Order: sequence, then C-alpha cells, then structure tokens
Amino acid sequence: MDRLAATRRPLIVAHRGSSGSAPENTLAAFRQAVADGADMIELDVRLSRDGELVVLHDRTVNRTTNGRGKVWDLTRDELKALDAGSWFGRRFAGERIPFLTDVLDVLPSDLPINIEVKTDDQPRTAPSFESRLVRFIRDMRIAYRIIVSSFDHAFLGRLHRLDHSLAIGVLYLPLRDIGRSPSALARKVGGSVFTCSITQLRTRMVEDAVRAGIVVGCYGVNTRKQLGKAVSCGVRVIITDYPREMKSYVV
Ligand code: G3P
Ligand code: MG
Repeated sequence: MDRLAATRRPLIVAHRGSSGSAPENTLAAFRQAVADGADMIELDVRLSRDGELVVLHDRTVNRTTNGRGKVWDLTRDELKALDAGSWFGRRFAGERIPFLTDVLDVLPSDLPINIEVKTDDQPRTAPSFESRLVRFIRDMRIAYRIIVSSFDHAFLGRLHRLDHSLAIGVLYLPLRDIGRSPSALARKVGGSVFTCSITQLRTRMVEDAVRAGIVVGCYGVNTRKQLGKAVSCGVRVIITDYPREMKSYVV
C-alpha cells in the first residue's frame, strides 16, 4: 500500500478492530480503532445464508453473541437480531454483528481495510464468495483502500483471476505451509503481502519476502516484547489488539 512506501515507521493495524478494548469485529471496536489512531483495520468476513458479507471471526455465532448456529445457516435478519457485545462487557450490550457495508459507514473514507476472508467449512455458493466480494469492492469503489487476505490460498487465486488489480495478502498456515517460502506462497496467487503470526515469524522469512518485493505483516503482536521481535525481524505491518499501545511504542 502507498502508505508503506511513504514511511519507515511500521503500520499499526487494529486486529478485528481494537479488540483488546471492545468486542471484536463490532462497530464499537472499529470506532475505537479510529480513536486509537490505527493506520488500518483488519476484520474477518464470511457469507450469511442469504449471501451477505458478514463481519465475524468464528464459523458460529456461539462465542461472541447470545445466539447459536453456523453463520451460513443464518440470514441477515437473524444475525442482526443478535447481541454481539454483552459477552465482552455489559457496557457493550446491544452491539450488533456488522455487515461489511455497515463498517464502511463508520470509518474515515481513506482508512485502509484488510478484509480477511474466512472460508473454512463454508458451503460453496452461487454466485461464488469471490465474485460477491469483487462486486462489493467495485460497487463501493473502495479498491484503493482494500487488501484482501486469507489462509485459503485457492480462494485468493480465484479472486486474483477475477480481478488482477486487487491487493492480495497470503496468510501463513503453519502445518500446511511449513518449509515454503513467503515469496513463493505470495507469487502463486498474485499476492503482494505475506502475513504470519508472531510465533511463526523468522528473520529468514522477512529476508526472502523483501528480496521479492513482498511486504511482511505479523499478527498476534500485543506486547512491547513481541513488537520488538517483529520490528527487529524487519516487519512493516503490525497487527494488534492494542493499536493505541503499539503506536505509543513506535512513534
Ligand atoms: O489477518 C491476520 C489474523 O487476523 C489471522 O488470524 O484467526 O485472528 O483471523 P485470525
Ligand atoms: Mg483475522
């Protein structure tokens, strides 16, 4: 992304919004991320039963709402009726599961968004998940501020074939991707960003990626020590539950 080229300071990305201080993947968490000065928002996207792009991390609504069930078995209206805040704290009671379009409404129009597509166990749909996402990004005219990332590299490959201009980030899945270089993983799907967890991060991964012109991101960076490891390995994109705190360390 252009902002990366413009600064040496690492970009601070709010993981599921400011999920350390507000319920993950809710508008409260995204508003908090803006207040915290995050440079980018990361959120997880799945498809509802009626094909809407819903912002939720898990396969089910069980952990983060007062409902039960798999997200692809529930309609937009059923999802909208759930309380997605009370599990985190009483003051967040009444927070709703947002849809991607709701998130755009509360973010500054130039704030970059990392859309992480979750496809695990998701039944195939027609039209496909990737074509729905491409259509959404085009209709909303947000391609300039979007990176699409996923652990599902086949999905990313299909997305890239649909639209070569989209920025794509590959997520590193330890058991599956072990021994494979970041540059090879990214190149295979037309990706320009490689992201792994702080525990998987090794300097040689960053060196390989940088040689190939691939930007490296790291998630699970929630302490000063973890930030130190990421920065000393050469990571440029820090994905954290605590953007305000991480920003205070890098400025
Ligand atoms: O996008 C990086 C990170 O969000 C991947 O892990 O499980 O938090 O979605 P997860
Ligand atoms: Mg995620």
